Amino acid sequence: MHLPDLNIAKDRTSKENKYIELNENYSKVFKDKKYFLRTYGCQMNVHDSEAIRSYLETLGLTNTENINEANVVVLNTCAIRENARDKVIGFLGKCKYLKKNRDDFKIVLAGCMTEQPDFIDIVRKKHKYVDIIIGTHNLYDLPKLLIDSFKEQTIEVYSNSDEIIEGMHFERDSKITAWVNIMYGCDKFCTYCIVPYTRGRERSRKKDDILKEIMELKNNGYKEVTLLGQNVNAYGKDIGESFANLLEETAKTGIERIRFVTSHPWNFTDEMIDVIAKYKNIMPYIHLPIQSGSNTILKRMNRKYTKEEYLELFHKMKERIPNVSITTDIIVGFPGETESDFNDTLEVVKTCEYDGAYTFIFSPREGTPAAKMVDDTPLNVKEERLYKLNELVNSYSLKSNQKYLNKVVEVLVLGVSDKDSTKVYGYTDTMKLVNITSNEDIIGKIVKIKITDAKSFSLDGEFIK
Ligand code: SAH
Ligand code: SF4
Ligand code: F3S
Repeated sequence: MHLPDLNIAKDRTSKENKYIELNENYSKVFKDKKYFLRTYGCQMNVHDSEAIRSYLETLGLTNTENINEANVVVLNTCAIRENARDKVIGFLGKCKYLKKNRDDFKIVLAGCMTEQPDFIDIVRKKHKYVDIIIGTHNLYDLPKLLIDSFKEQTIEVYSNSDEIIEGMHFERDSKITAWVNIMYGCDKFCTYCIVPYTRGRERSRKKDDILKEIMELKNNGYKEVTLLGQNVNAYGKDIGESFANLLEETAKTGIERIRFVTSHPWNFTDEMIDVIAKYKNIMPYIHLPIQSGSNTILKRMNRKYTKEEYLELFHKMKERIPNVSITTDIIVGFPGETESDFNDTLEVVKTCEYDGAYTFIFSPREGTPAAKMVDDTPLNVKEERLYKLNELVNSYSLKSNQKYLNKVVEVLVLGVSDKDSTKVYGYTDTMKLVNITSNEDIIGKIVKIKITDAKSFSLDGEFIK
């Protein structure tokens, strides 16, 4: 048994391949051992966890949902907002208790928090029982570190963030829909955001490597791929490629459904809109974060567009892409946001009538420029703004969902509903969640569903034979 052979794109950094033969001894070490994996944060992390799972299972560990049975606990962390840190620290406390008097219990910290120096200082000083700290750029070191950790205490690794690793294997959560990284990192440096510090500079995978992965997924029966990047539509700038071109070639592979997240308005071109409109297998759904409707705030956020430019793009998408649904992200209470700035945001929401929006209260992240800006709006005012915004946003989500009532739509069915085991769930091309009264036979298929009820966050439907 050996781990997948990895290669690091040669035109970037030349680094020896990470290749580990697993001999008998290692198999003995991990036989009968179990791992518990907890994932926080965005799709990037969810997909990284699929790689982590693959490594652990190649070593011979098996998954458990019960932390009390685990020998290896992996926390794949997110650093986007402050409260996430409290959750992880709380979780570590529980791990410390479980680890007491046991040398066959290892704690692994992975994900974006491990790239925050102040957090790592806290772990080093106060949470010395953590065995492995692994940065976001070198997950492929995990098997070796785990093997070593059963011999010695506390290991940390961080690697060059310019690398791109090909040949990673994933223990994918689904057999129907798959994440495909097309680029890593972010160069935008929005003043509130930690991602450029935790995920490094923008770097694109080679188009051929991406298309090869997508063809393999298609040949293995996958119905849908979601192209992933922090700024997915900035793909290719560093290697002389374009996102429009990649999308078009992905469409030509014939895979049934193609999605992509997250798009930055500043990088969206007419060509991309045309490609999305042209191919039926590129889904008419775009997540297009605006963050704020006030030009003063957008400038201070370093978002690189004005409200007017955003709206022009938004309307162009609505005009040219039939039946497109658009969702967004909004931050309230950015430092210095006045009542009038906030009203500008409400106005934009009224103009765009978004299909959905993720809303957040600004959370200062140490090391980012916005954390040093004067922030004199009291928390209760921010909370009131968030409440008001959510009421408005939800009313438009409901309105957009009600347009589906009594219509027949195509849904890719993904599995049995979490809340009600007599139902299955799936998504429309426009990314509306549909709960369906049906048996499990239609899981994995694109089927026609009649919509019978519309709520703010989901639709109900019946399978039509
Ligand atoms: N790359 C994507 C998403 C980044 S994180 C993009 O640029 O749109 C997801 C969302 O978290 C962001 O869109 C933003 O709305 C929110 N977010 C990021 N940093 C934040 C912070 N410090 N406080 C509150 N919300 C934040
Ligand atoms: Fe963060 Fe801005 Fe980059 Fe998105 S574009 S990841 S918000 S810095
Ligand atoms: Fe969080 Fe890192 Fe994603 S900070 S949102 S897990 S890129």
